[in-house]
Amino acid sequence: MLSSRSLIAAPLWVAVALVAALFFLMACEEEPTDPQERFERLGQRVYNSYCATCHGANGQGVPGAFPTLRETEWVVGDKGRLIRLVLHGVGGEMEVLGETYNNVMIAHGFLTDEQIAAVLTHIRQNWGNDAETVRPAQVQRVRQASTQEGIWEASDLWEATGIPGEDPPAEADVAEEADAEEADAEEAESEVQE
Ligand code: HEC
Repeated sequence: MLSSRSLIAAPLWVAVALVAALFFLMACEEEPTDPQERFERLGQRVYNSYCATCHGANGQGVPGAFPTLRETEWVVGDKGRLIRLVLHGVGGEMEVLGETYNNVMIAHGFLTDEQIAAVLTHIRQNWGNDAETVRPAQVQRVRQASTQEGIWEASDLWEATGIPGEDPPAEADVAEEADAEEADAEEAESEVQE
């Protein structure tokens, strides 16, 4: 027979054991020291907390409601556009892999530059996607230069490419541009001033 004292004490021991188990689990989850691993871990966490509810745990999306993030031009294409999308959100008719969506994604500008860079790198480098890393400094530059108010209209966002102060166009474009500039130096200059 259990005495009444041990009956009271039993829940206490269970609680102590649970707390100990929790600390043990937390110790296992310790932050990796390698900066690259930390960045990857951060991207995964931000994704799970802020994107997975709509886009699915594995970026698969929900047909008719939330587009997939797998191998879409929005994800693996221009980095500046992708950063703008997450900073300000997007709505209106959006075409993704031949499907038209017309729904709303809220702004995520409350996330830090590092969180945004990490989550975008995460979606660009998982589920069959294989695109360049997004760096926090790139998010910062887009954010600082942004004059966007409210969420983007998808059709406007599609055109809003590039990162201020970088993004050299592909080599073929550079050669063409150089020719065009020589041919019309004045116009090129006024464009630069804008
Ligand atoms: C509330 C639901 C919701 C959340 C949360 C959300 N999105 Fe979206 N997202 C959408 C919807 C809806 C669209 C399509 C918008 C439209 O129809 O104009 C979209 C579009 C996109 C697109 C472009 C289309 C595609 O599938 O390639 C990307 C990229 C994207 N979201 C990334 C993210 C990332 C990264 C996060 C987390 C930081 C996130 N989304 C969080 C609902 C959401």
